[in-house]
Amino acid sequence: MASDSPTVTYGISCEKPSAGPCGVVLFGASGDLSRRKVLPALFRLFRDRSVPDRFFVLGFGRTPLSDTAFRDLVASLLPDNDLKPDFLRRCHYLTGSYTDPASFRNLAARLEELHRSFATEGNTVFHLAVPPDLFGPIGRLLGHAGLGSRSSQGPYRRVMVEKPFGKDLASCRRLNAILLRSFRDSDIYRIDHYLGKHTVQNLLVFRFANRLFEPVWNRRYIDRILIDFAETDGVSGRAGFFDTTGLVRDVLQNHLLQLLALVTMDPPASFQPEPIRDSQARFFKSLRLRSLLRGQYTAGTSHDGHPLPAYTQEQGIPPDSTTETWFRAVLTSHSRRWRGVPFILTGGKRLHRKETSITVVFNKPPYCMLCKSSEHPAPNTIRFLIQPQQKVILTFQAKIPGSRMCFTPMDMEFDYERLLGHPTTGDYEHLILDCMNGDQTLFWRKDGVEATWRLLDGDIRSFDHLSLDRRRTLLHTYPAGSEGPRLPPELWP
Ligand code: BG6
Repeated sequence: MASDSPTVTYGISCEKPSAGPCGVVLFGASGDLSRRKVLPALFRLFRDRSVPDRFFVLGFGRTPLSDTAFRDLVASLLPDNDLKPDFLRRCHYLTGSYTDPASFRNLAARLEELHRSFATEGNTVFHLAVPPDLFGPIGRLLGHAGLGSRSSQGPYRRVMVEKPFGKDLASCRRLNAILLRSFRDSDIYRIDHYLGKHTVQNLLVFRFANRLFEPVWNRRYIDRILIDFAETDGVSGRAGFFDTTGLVRDVLQNHLLQLLALVTMDPPASFQPEPIRDSQARFFKSLRLRSLLRGQYTAGTSHDGHPLPAYTQEQGIPPDSTTETWFRAVLTSHSRRWRGVPFILTGGKRLHRKETSITVVFNKPPYCMLCKSSEHPAPNTIRFLIQPQQKVILTFQAKIPGSRMCFTPMDMEFDYERLLGHPTTGDYEHLILDCMNGDQTLFWRKDGVEATWRLLDGDIRSFDHLSLDRRRTLLHTYPAGSEGPRLPPELWP
């Protein structure tokens, strides 16, 4: 396909979805997540006409802001566009406390006013872009202020909750119980923004819209599955959150386990939200944690030669912190399809590169008739590059031209960027639009999120309960900017 020809012909008709009238209440409206992801995504939905004219955004936060000051903030985040003034006109702000019932009564009154003036019929999405310890208090007070969905038969009221959803099994269950007192489960949208990425959704299409791969997608043909999450960034101004969370809770429990589920779960009975979430939950319940190693970065050097501080020297991090910035988890599933196949999930901050990828490694051929020695050729692999590169690469052996029967691994590649002329973007707008349309396919279900915490709970709790010294000795260190810890051979999976 020519790289300068971004025309895409879809195999089946794909209508662009759009939402009906609604208002979005954004908690944590001036915070980092809202600025980086949610507000720009809401604007793109408006710009692309995926939301109608009958639409508004009400920011809510502790930071005292007038409507005008909030609009200035939103304006500074958006590119110039003819529709920008119209979008800004729909942006409003309410200063309040996340734990004070009076603030939620004010919210109810303000919402009523805005629904009336924008003719939005009372349909509301509450987006909780706040630190995780506030999910419960906000959920509870929304219910007390009559803003939940338990008491409402008319317009929809849905709540989008960010991750991590709890910090262990017990807190996850408590949070579910609190939210379920205010909202029906069908109105709770537990976000994992990885599920909004096109390259992640492509895993479902790759597996279930093709006939070629399913017959070999099992333990008879697949030797192991590797998932790698590497970032060059350190804690990036989120020291408080990260140090009390750690990378296992921050990305393993959610993003990486979701990727694993999509690449391994059984085909759902149909492409509907509940059958898909049934398959995911069944897969999570079949998993066993075999080992979980943790690491932390020491001082090092970036790829362009700049000195990088150790994790414990980063601003806001306690000098004796034993929070992990790297992990390697080995999991297996007791399902018929995957019994005995290791799933090796590795994640790290402050590494030498940024990449999220999944590698499916096939078994070697049982007998190599073309091999001269006992050495086998490298196995076939299928690699899904999720980001920043967005590719699917199949590696196979090919003959090297010449008189001898020599061969070497070659790649066959599909690249979203070459197809479209730019990388695919837009995880958040996809998820927000699905929530407005009442589609929970790409959101965690209660049993799924609880199953992932159950899987990790024993290990997380025993690590947390060790003495500081013992935790320190268990951490594998690695220099910032490197490839991660050099593990001794006995720890290789
Ligand atoms: C977030 C984590 O959920 O995902 C961050 O809290 C991480 O620590 C981020 O950096 C990665 O998201 P993305 O979309 O940039 O890969």
